Amino acid sequence: MTHIEKDVEEVLLSEKELSDILDRIAADIVRDYKDSPRKLLILSILKGSLIFTSDLMRRIPLPLELDFMKVSSYGSGTVSSGGPLKISLDLKRDDIADLDILIVEDIIDSGNTLSKLKKHLAERGAHSVKICTLLDKPSRREVELSADYCGAEIPDKFVIGYGLDYDEKYRNLPYVGVLSPKVYS
Ligand code: IMP
Ligand code: MG
Repeated sequence: MTHIEKDVEEVLLSEKELSDILDRIAADIVRDYKDSPRKLLILSILKGSLIFTSDLMRRIPLPLELDFMKVSSYGSGTVSSGGPLKISLDLKRDDIADLDILIVEDIIDSGNTLSKLKKHLAERGAHSVKICTLLDKPSRREVELSADYCGAEIPDKFVIGYGLDYDEKYRNLPYVGVLSPKVYS
C-alpha cells in the first residue's frame, strides 16, 4: 500500500489553519447560544463532518446534545440534485420543538441537500435551525442557501481530508487538500 498523501495536489487548509478556523467558529457559536433558554442540539451530518464535529464541540463549553443524520438528495443520477430528501439515518428523538438545532456539515456545494434538510427540520417543529459548515463552494450553488457559520470559502476544486472523502477514501488526512485530478481522470 502506498501513502495517501501522494494523491494530494495541494494543501488547502493546514492543521494550524484548521485549528484557527475552529477557534473562530466556536467563539461565534458560544457568543450566539450562551443565553438561549433552549437545548442546543449539534446535528452532525455523516460521514464527512465527523472530524469537524468532534474538534468543534470540544471548543463549545455549553450544555449541548449530539445527534447524527445521514442524508442525500438524489434525482435520477448519483449527484446531489433537486430530487427528494433521502434520510438513511434519522434523529433519535421525535419531538424537536424545544431545540435549537445547529447542523454541522463538511462542505456546501450545490446546497440542495442542506436546503431540504433545513426545511424538513423546520416543518418538524424545531425552534431554530442554523447551519455551520467547514467549507463552502459558493460558485457551485444551485439553490439559495447560506451558512450561518462558515470556516472557509474555497474555489471549485474537489477537496479531500479532515473527514471529506473521494470514493470513501482520504477521510483520515489530517488537513484539507485538493485531490490530484489524475486520481479520477
Ligand atoms: P450538495 O451541497 O447538496 O451539493 O452536497 C454537498 C455534499 O457533496 C457534501 O456533503 C459532500 O459529501 C459532497 N461534496 C461536495 N463537494 C465535495 C468535495 O470537494 N469533496 C468531497 N465531498 C464533496
Ligand atoms: Mg458529505
